[in-house]
Amino acid sequence: MCGIIGYIGDKEVAPLLISGLKKLEYRGYDSAGICLKEREGLVFVKRKGKIIELEKSPELEKRNAKAGIAHTRWATHGEPNEVNAHPHTDCQEEIAIVHNGIIENHHALKKLLESEGHKFVSSTDSEIFAHLIEKFFDGNLEESVAKAISCVEGTFGLAVLQKDEDKLVVARRSSPIIIGVGNGEMFVASDASAIIGHTKRVVYLDDDEIAVLKRGGYHIQKLNGEKADKKVHEIQWSVDQIEKGGFKHFMLKEIFEQPEAIENVLRGRIKKGEVKLSVDVEDIKRIILTACGTSWHSALIGKHLLEKIAKIPAEVDYASEFRYRDPLVSKDDLVVVISQSGETADTLAAVKEAKAKGAKTLGIVNVVGSTISREVNSGIYLHAGPEIGVASTKAFTSQLAALLLLALYIRRNKGKTMDEGLIKELEQTPQKIKEILKTSKEIRDISNSLKDHSNALYLGRGLNFPVALEGALKLKEISYIHAEGYPAAEMKHGPIALVDKDMPVFFIAAKDHTYEKILSNMEEIKARNGEIIALVQEDDEEIRRLARYVIKIPKTREELAPILYAIPLQLLAYHIADLKGIDVDKPRNLAKSVTVE
Ligand code: M6R
Repeated sequence: MCGIIGYIGDKEVAPLLISGLKKLEYRGYDSAGICLKEREGLVFVKRKGKIIELEKSPELEKRNAKAGIAHTRWATHGEPNEVNAHPHTDCQEEIAIVHNGIIENHHALKKLLESEGHKFVSSTDSEIFAHLIEKFFDGNLEESVAKAISCVEGTFGLAVLQKDEDKLVVARRSSPIIIGVGNGEMFVASDASAIIGHTKRVVYLDDDEIAVLKRGGYHIQKLNGEKADKKVHEIQWSVDQIEKGGFKHFMLKEIFEQPEAIENVLRGRIKKGEVKLSVDVEDIKRIILTACGTSWHSALIGKHLLEKIAKIPAEVDYASEFRYRDPLVSKDDLVVVISQSGETADTLAAVKEAKAKGAKTLGIVNVVGSTISREVNSGIYLHAGPEIGVASTKAFTSQLAALLLLALYIRRNKGKTMDEGLIKELEQTPQKIKEILKTSKEIRDISNSLKDHSNALYLGRGLNFPVALEGALKLKEISYIHAEGYPAAEMKHGPIALVDKDMPVFFIAAKDHTYEKILSNMEEIKARNGEIIALVQEDDEEIRRLARYVIKIPKTREELAPILYAIPLQLLAYHIADLKGIDVDKPRNLAKSVTVE
């Protein structure tokens, strides 16, 4: 949540920070602000709303500062207004801070600082940092930052400027901070996308490390003052990958990137009909999958795949529930955590909980170098490329492909034969996705007739029940239409009361062993005048008489149906939201990565 960028070098800093903030806007867009280090002192400019409001500010014209920090906010403490926008400052306006995360003991710290005479202007927890650093500052910024973070309970990604010190000081605890290493210039960001246009050489800060960035270089120390030896990593993503590439929205671009994303998951992992992974699954007796949001839907499908293919008991838990319910986990368990960003706070906490209880952990993560990817014992990177749209699309289908690989790998590891037919079918999936993407125009036409509804139901069975959940989540998060996903048979136990002519009902009606049952469920909806939109196998003639709209999906194996059937649902949600004029990539109240609990 929230985005940070900072710079020190010889370039004019304001435009550089603004363009970096735009890359981070998907992390939150309630307000934005910037602090420039000018010869005369620190200059603060803040605006409520999106980065464009900040960019338009006349105060940013004709500036020549060469160092600064900036922030885009997703509000946690304090309403989204200009006063609560970052950067925050101390009583003398000599220190500026930007902060991602939450200070849990902020009430106690605020009381203490106020009793010592500090004056607070915002209702944020973050402002605490500015006053704490002021309290400890005696000419050495990094030392005062170290003292300040020692007082703080909670999470932070932090960047600090002081008016007389020619440096940036940054620190982290459970909130990502990346240092970009340039030639005669240094960057800091909460996310590589903000700095990738300037440098691909990055250092990932670990918890309770403090870095001092100067034009000529940097050094990193631990909280106890010891030097931290850190590797410089080379980022593989290109600037083009994070631009829209001619698409109206990132979400649409990412939907269309799915054939390539699936190829990337598979690349180098299938050799001579065998799945090759570098994961530790020895001696495990049970698998627990845990995640949030869309990644949780992948976990539900993963459970089916692991039990069906690998014949190993699997359970699924929301990461936010798992971490707080004192779960019964032991060294015989493998805890699989799934996260696109690799930064979701609850999912990260679930990894820590699992490790503390002696379980093996395995991450299915997209963002290379993210906190979760570094925390787990082993993992599978998706290599889906950056996902910028708040609604997760290509990460979801890539997660499903990765889970299938994992299930096949564990099956083989247990001495069972490889299912070569399934592997072949998996390799043909990108081509089948391309076929589905050709129906985007047709799906837009259907969307046009659905966009004015206020509610929708999504029904599926077995492996496709979580696809129904995912379809409903996609619709509600970007179109603001209320939508529910249900196992189709459950409908009779309550939700059918909602069905009338104004209720569109989306059926995922793949031709699997539940097909006949799905047909009966459709009849039940039809009898109540519900408007059926059915996703069916391409050779299906039966359903046409029941459905108002039919979307045809290439024939595939049951295990791969969730990947294919998810795609028209993504397109439906996208087109409905776009036709309603909603900012699809930045729907209200949401942020791309949820780094608060
Ligand atoms: O980065 P993660 O996969 O851990 O994120 C989990 C959820 O926050 C995310 O999937 C969210 O539900 C998306 N907005 C769904 O489109």
